[in-house]
Amino acid sequence: MTTPTNSSSGLGNRNAELPQEQWVENPETGAKVVKVGDMEFPKRKVWMHTFGCQMNYHDTERVLSHLENLNFEQTKDQQEADLILFNTCAIRDLSNQKFYSKLGDTKHIKKKNPDVKIGVGGCVAQTEGKELVKKYKHLDFSFGTDVIDTINELVYRSYAGEDPFAINTWDRSQNFSIETKITNGSPQAFVNIIKGCNKCCSYCIVPFTRGKEKSRLQKEVVEDVRRLVEYQGVQEVTLLGQNVNSYGKDNGESLAGLITELDQINGLELIRYTTSHPYDVTDELVQVHGEAKKLSRHLHLPVQSGSNTVLQRMLREYTVDHYMGLVEKLRKAKPDIVLSTDIIAGFVNETEEEHQATLDLLDRAQYDFIYSYAYSQRNKTRASRWEDSLTDDIRGARLREIQAYQAKIQEKIRKELVGQTFTVLVDGHGFMGGEKKWKGRTNCMRIVHFLPEHQEHDLQWHWVEVEVTAATAFSCQGKLKKVWGRRMPEQASRY
Ligand code: SAH
Ligand code: SF4
Ligand code: F3S
Repeated sequence: MTTPTNSSSGLGNRNAELPQEQWVENPETGAKVVKVGDMEFPKRKVWMHTFGCQMNYHDTERVLSHLENLNFEQTKDQQEADLILFNTCAIRDLSNQKFYSKLGDTKHIKKKNPDVKIGVGGCVAQTEGKELVKKYKHLDFSFGTDVIDTINELVYRSYAGEDPFAINTWDRSQNFSIETKITNGSPQAFVNIIKGCNKCCSYCIVPFTRGKEKSRLQKEVVEDVRRLVEYQGVQEVTLLGQNVNSYGKDNGESLAGLITELDQINGLELIRYTTSHPYDVTDELVQVHGEAKKLSRHLHLPVQSGSNTVLQRMLREYTVDHYMGLVEKLRKAKPDIVLSTDIIAGFVNETEEEHQATLDLLDRAQYDFIYSYAYSQRNKTRASRWEDSLTDDIRGARLREIQAYQAKIQEKIRKELVGQTFTVLVDGHGFMGGEKKWKGRTNCMRIVHFLPEHQEHDLQWHWVEVEVTAATAFSCQGKLKKVWGRRMPEQASRY
């Protein structure tokens, strides 16, 4: 047998209990297996489904890259999987329902093949993991949001024959220190800079599912991004957190300072961040929007409601005037900045007048797009303890009204794009009316679809220039003008 080689994931804190994974070769078959202590892990397949926000998608990538060290490769076919994982979201009832229905579907898979392991991670697992494991007998384990870096230990324990278990402990270590891992070879990377949320918006489950805020050190993030750019061809980063504007508070650092440093990295072309809380947008950050060369011209700034009384009940810590003051400052610092937002329709006891105030705000703010949701009551939150006079029908009607109102505003804004030329990084293609069309996002987050010069032209991850030829509220069509190639050249416009 060849000498075993240690494999270290280099992905952050690992639980010391798991004996080190070692790759060994079977001398007869030449097949590579992983040994953990005395247990062998032959080549297996993992199927993983993700619900929820970008944070969850990012966590899924992390889980999958850990599992590579246990000899798992990803499959898109649930039927052929040895390990089935869900990364769950608890933000609204609908997200929960979708997960429960998919979890139910896996019952018969387990019946057919009892060797299949099934695990549930993420935000539902954090708050309801123990109940899940008790209730769903075909479940092998559940893991909360703060233990994803120990996934290999959990999978090992399950294969070692442990009874179904649920882990939802918080990571008590002082620092939040990780290394970003990308597995798909794309020039776009998400970089988690802060975890948790210290706000207590009265409707929101996130503080319960993600815990207290903890930031990575600026030095570590800058080195991480430098490494991604130098060695993995990354050109665009999105800094991630539930409230990135709180970044660095625990270490005397700031998002503005971090962006200013990242702006200096050669080869990095575009910096985005999400999500922002309006209360924590500092003057320094507004200034950075005006000055940083690589910072996106788009900002997602969730407002939730256009009514001061609703904002108060939501415990959002700002007023409509404060919010609109920020919008004004941002537009002064960066006159063509593009804004988007989140809105909750029909919050607890919302009056018709309060609802109308949100429509007024849409008029004033002129968002490029919005995400809007009907309020959904979540266990544990403050708002869930209040009597609520609103019905789901009213919430639904208000949501539709908000969406229709915004669509008109959006259509007007989007029509003005016709005739303008943008530089976009092509990130995929689809078929429209039988024709292959490529698509990419502009610096300011608008998706543009366009035809290649000839159908077999592969433009994936190329920087191109497109002129917008037609635009509706929800889609933009363009004409390819120039192909720059896989790196953005100096002379390309950043717009
Ligand atoms: N951290 C982000 C939001 C994360 S949740 C922020 O503060 O902006 C994403 C969005 O889901 C929120 O902005 C809000 O609009 C919506 N949301 C959160 N809880 C909700 C609930 N209980 N019902 C309906 N929508 C909700
Ligand atoms: Fe939820 Fe508010 Fe935190 Fe956003 S800032 S994650 S809405 S508690
Ligand atoms: Fe959902 Fe958790 Fe994200 S509740 S929105 S997956 S932080």
